[in-house]
Amino acid sequence: MKVLVYGGTGSQGNAIVARLLSQGHEPTILTRSPEKAAEWATQGVKVAVGDMGDVASLEQASQGMDAIALTITFVLPDLETAYSYGRNAIDAAKKAGVRLIVYNTSGPVLTAPIGNVGYDVRRLVIDHLKASGVDYIVVKPTTYLENLLGPWTRQGIIENDVLAYPVQENRSIGWIATADLAALTVAALEHPELAPLEVVISGEANLTGPQLAERISKGLGRTIRYEAMPLDVFGATLDSMFGHGASEGVLPGYRLLRDHPEQVTHWTDMRLVLRKLPVEMTSVEAWAEQFASLFAPQPVTQGEV
Ligand SMILES: NC(=O)c1ccc[n+]([C@@H]2O[C@H](COP(=O)([O-])OP(=O)(O)OC[C@H]3O[C@@H](n4cnc5c(N)ncnc54)[C@H](OP(=O)(O)O)[C@@H]3O)[C@@H](O)[C@H]2O)c1
Repeated sequence: MKVLVYGGTGSQGNAIVARLLSQGHEPTILTRSPEKAAEWATQGVKVAVGDMGDVASLEQASQGMDAIALTITFVLPDLETAYSYGRNAIDAAKKAGVRLIVYNTSGPVLTAPIGNVGYDVRRLVIDHLKASGVDYIVVKPTTYLENLLGPWTRQGIIENDVLAYPVQENRSIGWIATADLAALTVAALEHPELAPLEVVISGEANLTGPQLAERISKGLGRTIRYEAMPLDVFGATLDSMFGHGASEGVLPGYRLLRDHPEQVTHWTDMRLVLRKLPVEMTSVEAWAEQFASLFAPQPVTQGEV
């Protein structure tokens, strides 16, 4: 299968490219900056230069593709731009006669807008897909385990054996590994007969904060404790890392989970999903073991107290 991968140089798309390759398919990475895909190019992955704001470049990249793996980055300037990215990708696929689009929404799809670009664009893109006439499958992941690799959480595990995350202790989440999002996306690409389909995907276990910490502890082989990080502390860290105001793109989702958890689907019974999209899921313990070196306490160097 020839598959054009949007966001293939990003954290989610990168995993999709890897999975496509391991399943014997032919991914092409769509990027504005081919140097970001140079490593993949050495492994034989094709690279198409294009910008989601430039429909002509997407039409060219979509020529000859069997399918599209569509991911729209969370970091977006405004809703109209974000929506145009999705529209352009879908319209280009249609014009090129591509038979299937698998759209990874990157997170939960809400029933009503909340005034946040990253969240609100998802429903608009799904509606455009539905109206496009192109076969589609939408995968709606929950929260990635890889979010724990962000310095706001990772540093606390390394230094204090504390897993701090901006979610209350008693809120349950079906944390999913990005590799599983990729495996499920590729399984969807391999099953065009399932279209049209919208499916929530999550980790198999629905875990409170302390339960998550317990499983991470097992994977790392040492005891880690959970701590709910106040949203303002999380926001201040994001602002200091990515610039003032950066947190406003991210915090509304966490506020919603805190104040209206009933509006956000954060777990699904994967036994039902895996009947349609059969893949082997990664347990939280196995994920932690895989990334253990990134959570290891730093050795004290000579001369340090
Ligand atoms: N549910 C969740 O928990 C969740 C959801 C989303 C993200 N995250 C986290 O957020 C982080 C970022 O992940 P990510 O994969 O969304 O994004 P990312 O790693 O920041 O990558 C962004 C991707 O979007 C592409 N892109 C942006 N604007 C484009 C344009 N105008 N035209 C074409 N391509 C464009 C970039 O391509 P080029 O720059 O190469 O052109 C790049 O491939 C990760 O750490 C992830 O774990 C978590």
